[in-house]
Amino acid sequence: MNLIVAVDEKWGIGRDGDLLCRISTDMKRFRSITSGNVLVMGRKTLESFPNKKPLPNRENVVLTNNLEYEAEGVILCHSIEELPRILEGFGEKEVFVAGGGNVYQQLLPFCEKAYITKIKETFPADTHFPNLDMLPEWEIVEEDEREENGIKFSFVLYQKK
Ligand SMILES: NC(=O)c1ccc[n+]([C@@H]2O[C@H](COP(=O)([O-])OP(=O)(O)OC[C@H]3O[C@@H](n4cnc5c(N)ncnc54)[C@H](OP(=O)(O)O)[C@@H]3O)[C@@H](O)[C@H]2O)c1
Repeated sequence: MNLIVAVDEKWGIGRDGDLLCRISTDMKRFRSITSGNVLVMGRKTLESFPNKKPLPNRENVVLTNNLEYEAEGVILCHSIEELPRILEGFGEKEVFVAGGGNVYQQLLPFCEKAYITKIKETFPADTHFPNLDMLPEWEIVEEDEREENGIKFSFVLYQKK
């Protein structure tokens, strides 16, 4: 299982249920990496999408504790323990943990690769991702510097040693 996330300089990822900023090059890359594959996300991240709808051309697995929760076009999962059984059903498809903070925190130990977009700015944030540079088991294997509309960012691939 892999994960994909955009962080600011302080590893902030969100505020008030939304992203910190939108970079179209990053959105395109997210689409290209995850299309045809499987996303695993928390209920709050699903509800942050336009019209609270799942992302197209991908399997959207949504974690919620609420057994009565219903959402069209998603596969609901009610615990981390239930997740492997659900993911087995997707065969060779790649699985990407897609947020938010709560779900990244729980699934990071099961991830092998982390596709991190590092935005070289700091935004007010109420949701954070663990700082991988402080975790000795993670190392950077690729880094690609970019800029869009004056915002500098880089696509960084971390891998578990
Ligand atoms: N920068 C990025 O790349 C990125 C990506 C994704 C999201 N985000 C941001 O992250 C923020 C949302 O993150 P968040 O931490 O508040 O919420 P979240 O992780 O998206 O969702 C949390 C919810 O998921 C469910 N859940 C989590 N663990 C579970 C488990 N083990 N079993 C069953 N259900 C479980 C619970 O839903 P119930 O309450 O229904 O039980 C919980 O309230 C937003 O600001 C969003 O924009 C940023």
